[in-house]
Amino acid sequence: MATEDHVAQPASEQPEEEGVRRRDFLNIAAVSVAGVGGVIAILPLVNQMNPSADVLALASIDVDLSAIEPGQTIKTSWRKQPLFIRHLTEAEIEEARAVDVSELRDPQTLAERTAEGHEQWLISLAVCTHLGCIPLGAAAGENKGEFGGYFCPCHGSHYDTAGRIRKGPAPTNLVVPEYEFTSDTTVTIG
Ligand code: FES
Repeated sequence: MATEDHVAQPASEQPEEEGVRRRDFLNIAAVSVAGVGGVIAILPLVNQMNPSADVLALASIDVDLSAIEPGQTIKTSWRKQPLFIRHLTEAEIEEARAVDVSELRDPQTLAERTAEGHEQWLISLAVCTHLGCIPLGAAAGENKGEFGGYFCPCHGSHYDTAGRIRKGPAPTNLVVPEYEFTSDTTVTIG
Protein backbone atom coordinates (compact mmCIF):
# COMPACT_ATOMS: atom_id res chain seq x y z
CA MET A 1 0.00 0.00 0.00
CA ALA A 2 1.48 3.23 -1.10
CA THR A 3 2.26 5.74 1.51
CA GLU A 4 2.85 9.41 0.95
CA ASP A 5 6.62 8.77 0.93
CA HIS A 6 6.35 6.42 -2.09
CA VAL A 7 4.32 8.64 -4.39
CA ALA A 8 6.53 9.65 -7.29
CA GLN A 9 6.86 13.32 -7.82
CA PRO A 10 5.98 14.65 -11.32
CA ALA A 11 9.12 15.43 -13.32
CA SER A 12 8.30 19.08 -13.34
CA GLU A 13 8.46 19.00 -9.59
CA GLN A 14 11.79 17.13 -9.32
CA PRO A 15 14.64 19.24 -7.96
CA GLU A 16 16.28 21.24 -10.78
CA GLU A 17 19.75 19.94 -9.80
CA GLU A 18 18.78 16.30 -10.43
CA GLY A 19 17.26 17.20 -13.81
CA VAL A 20 20.40 19.01 -14.92
CA ARG A 21 22.64 16.08 -13.92
CA ARG A 22 20.45 13.67 -15.86
CA ARG A 23 20.51 15.83 -19.01
CA ASP A 24 24.28 16.29 -18.75
CA PHE A 25 24.85 12.55 -18.56
CA LEU A 26 22.75 11.91 -21.65
CA ASN A 27 24.53 14.62 -23.59
CA ILE A 28 27.98 13.43 -22.59
CA ALA A 29 27.06 9.85 -23.45
CA ALA A 30 25.81 10.93 -26.88
CA VAL A 31 28.93 12.99 -27.57
CA SER A 32 31.19 10.17 -26.44
CA VAL A 33 29.54 7.69 -28.78
CA ALA A 34 29.74 10.16 -31.65
CA GLY A 35 33.38 10.82 -30.82
CA VAL A 36 34.32 7.15 -30.72
CA GLY A 37 32.33 6.52 -33.89
CA GLY A 38 34.20 9.35 -35.58
CA VAL A 39 37.58 7.92 -34.60
CA ILE A 40 36.56 4.45 -35.76
CA ALA A 41 35.41 5.89 -39.10
CA ILE A 42 38.63 7.87 -39.61
CA LEU A 43 41.12 5.14 -38.63
CA PRO A 44 40.68 2.98 -41.74
CA LEU A 45 41.23 6.04 -43.96
CA VAL A 46 44.46 6.90 -42.13
CA ASN A 47 45.61 3.29 -42.23
CA GLN A 48 44.94 3.02 -45.96
CA MET A 49 47.54 5.70 -46.56
CA ASN A 50 50.32 3.64 -44.94
CA PRO A 51 51.85 0.47 -46.38
CA SER A 52 50.61 -2.50 -44.35
CA ALA A 53 53.05 -4.16 -41.97
CA ASP A 54 53.36 -7.30 -44.07
CA VAL A 55 54.15 -5.28 -47.21
CA LEU A 56 56.85 -3.36 -45.35
CA ALA A 57 58.30 -6.60 -44.03
CA LEU A 58 58.43 -8.06 -47.53
CA ALA A 59 59.94 -5.01 -49.21
CA SER A 60 63.30 -6.79 -49.30
CA ILE A 61 64.34 -10.27 -48.30
CA ASP A 62 67.70 -11.87 -47.50
CA VAL A 63 68.25 -15.34 -48.91
CA ASP A 64 70.99 -17.76 -47.88
CA LEU A 65 72.05 -19.59 -51.03
CA SER A 66 74.64 -21.86 -49.45
CA ALA A 67 72.47 -25.01 -49.52
CA ILE A 68 71.39 -24.72 -53.17
CA GLU A 69 73.42 -27.16 -55.27
CA PRO A 70 74.30 -26.54 -58.93
CA GLY A 71 71.30 -27.63 -61.00
CA GLN A 72 68.85 -26.87 -58.19
CA THR A 73 66.21 -24.17 -58.10
CA ILE A 74 64.34 -22.91 -55.08
CA LYS A 75 61.03 -21.17 -55.16
CA THR A 76 60.41 -18.41 -52.65
CA SER A 77 58.24 -15.34 -52.59
CA TRP A 78 58.98 -11.66 -52.58
CA ARG A 79 56.47 -8.84 -52.41
CA LYS A 80 53.77 -11.46 -52.65
CA GLN A 81 55.10 -12.77 -55.97
CA PRO A 82 56.73 -16.16 -56.56
CA LEU A 83 60.45 -16.07 -57.25
CA PHE A 84 62.90 -18.59 -58.71
CA ILE A 85 66.51 -18.73 -57.55
CA ARG A 86 68.46 -21.09 -59.76
CA HIS A 87 72.00 -22.31 -59.30
CA LEU A 88 73.13 -22.86 -62.88
CA THR A 89 75.50 -25.69 -63.71
CA GLU A 90 78.58 -25.01 -65.83
CA ALA A 91 76.81 -26.66 -68.78
CA GLU A 92 73.74 -24.40 -68.34
CA ILE A 93 75.97 -21.33 -68.18
CA GLU A 94 77.77 -22.38 -71.38
CA GLU A 95 74.45 -23.06 -73.08
CA ALA A 96 73.19 -19.60 -72.18
CA ARG A 97 76.40 -17.91 -73.31
CA ALA A 98 76.42 -19.73 -76.66
CA VAL A 99 73.13 -18.18 -77.78
CA ASP A 100 73.28 -15.45 -80.41
CA VAL A 101 71.30 -12.76 -78.59
CA SER A 102 70.47 -10.89 -81.79
CA GLU A 103 68.10 -13.76 -82.59
CA LEU A 104 66.21 -13.41 -79.32
CA ARG A 105 62.79 -11.83 -78.98
CA ASP A 106 64.02 -9.96 -75.90
CA PRO A 107 67.81 -9.75 -76.48
CA GLN A 108 69.80 -10.04 -73.25
CA THR A 109 73.02 -11.82 -72.41
CA LEU A 110 73.37 -14.03 -69.34
CA ALA A 111 75.76 -11.41 -67.92
CA GLU A 112 73.04 -8.77 -68.24
CA ARG A 113 70.63 -10.99 -66.33
CA THR A 114 72.96 -11.92 -63.47
CA ALA A 115 75.26 -10.10 -61.06
CA GLU A 116 78.91 -9.62 -61.95
CA GLY A 117 80.99 -12.43 -60.45
CA HIS A 118 77.81 -14.40 -59.67
CA GLU A 119 76.74 -15.57 -63.12
CA GLN A 120 75.78 -18.94 -61.71
CA TRP A 121 72.83 -17.40 -59.83
CA LEU A 122 69.78 -16.73 -61.98
CA ILE A 123 67.19 -14.87 -59.91
CA SER A 124 63.88 -14.16 -61.62
CA LEU A 125 60.20 -13.78 -60.92
CA ALA A 126 58.39 -17.08 -61.36
CA VAL A 127 55.73 -15.34 -63.40
CA CYS A 128 55.28 -16.03 -67.10
CA THR A 129 55.32 -12.76 -69.03
CA HIS A 130 52.41 -13.92 -71.18
CA LEU A 131 49.47 -14.03 -68.78
CA GLY A 132 51.16 -14.51 -65.43
CA CYS A 133 51.09 -18.27 -64.85
CA ILE A 134 53.87 -19.94 -62.86
CA PRO A 135 56.19 -21.84 -65.23
CA LEU A 136 57.43 -25.36 -64.57
CA GLY A 137 61.09 -26.32 -64.37
CA ALA A 138 62.05 -25.52 -60.77
CA ALA A 139 61.33 -28.87 -59.11
CA ALA A 140 63.25 -32.02 -60.02
CA GLY A 141 61.54 -33.92 -62.80
CA GLU A 142 59.44 -31.01 -63.99
CA ASN A 143 59.29 -30.14 -67.68
CA LYS A 144 62.01 -27.54 -68.38
CA GLY A 145 60.87 -26.94 -71.94
CA GLU A 146 62.80 -27.24 -75.17
CA PHE A 147 65.60 -24.92 -74.05
CA GLY A 148 66.34 -26.40 -70.63
CA GLY A 149 65.09 -23.51 -68.50
CA TYR A 150 61.42 -23.14 -67.69
CA PHE A 151 58.24 -24.14 -69.45
CA CYS A 152 54.86 -22.49 -69.03
CA PRO A 153 52.23 -25.06 -70.01
CA CYS A 154 49.36 -22.55 -69.92
CA HIS A 155 49.97 -21.52 -73.54
CA GLY A 156 53.34 -23.14 -74.26
CA SER A 157 56.08 -20.59 -73.54
CA HIS A 158 59.62 -21.99 -73.39
CA TYR A 159 62.40 -20.15 -71.53
CA ASP A 160 66.09 -21.02 -71.76
CA THR A 161 68.66 -21.53 -68.99
CA ALA A 162 68.97 -17.75 -68.59
CA GLY A 163 65.17 -17.39 -68.25
CA ARG A 164 64.90 -15.81 -71.71
CA ILE A 165 61.82 -16.38 -73.84
CA ARG A 166 62.69 -18.65 -76.78
CA LYS A 167 59.37 -20.03 -78.04
CA GLY A 168 55.66 -19.48 -77.39
CA PRO A 169 53.51 -16.39 -76.79
CA ALA A 170 55.36 -14.73 -73.87
CA PRO A 171 56.62 -11.36 -75.13
CA THR A 172 59.60 -10.86 -72.81
CA ASN A 173 62.12 -12.70 -70.64
CA LEU A 174 61.30 -13.63 -67.04
CA VAL A 175 61.71 -10.48 -64.98
CA VAL A 176 64.94 -10.14 -62.98
CA PRO A 177 64.29 -8.12 -59.79
CA GLU A 178 66.73 -5.71 -58.15
CA TYR A 179 69.12 -7.59 -55.89
CA GLU A 180 72.56 -7.35 -54.36
CA PHE A 181 74.99 -9.95 -53.06
CA THR A 182 76.05 -9.16 -49.52
CA SER A 183 78.43 -12.15 -49.42
CA ASP A 184 79.25 -15.01 -51.79
CA THR A 185 76.23 -16.92 -50.57
CA THR A 186 73.82 -14.27 -49.32
CA VAL A 187 71.69 -12.06 -51.47
CA THR A 188 69.33 -9.23 -50.61
CA ILE A 189 66.43 -9.06 -53.01
CA GLY A 190 64.51 -5.79 -53.33
S1 FES B 1 50.70 -17.61 -69.23
FE1 FES B 1 52.52 -18.63 -69.75
S2 FES B 1 52.27 -19.12 -71.81
FE2 FES B 1 50.47 -18.08 -71.32
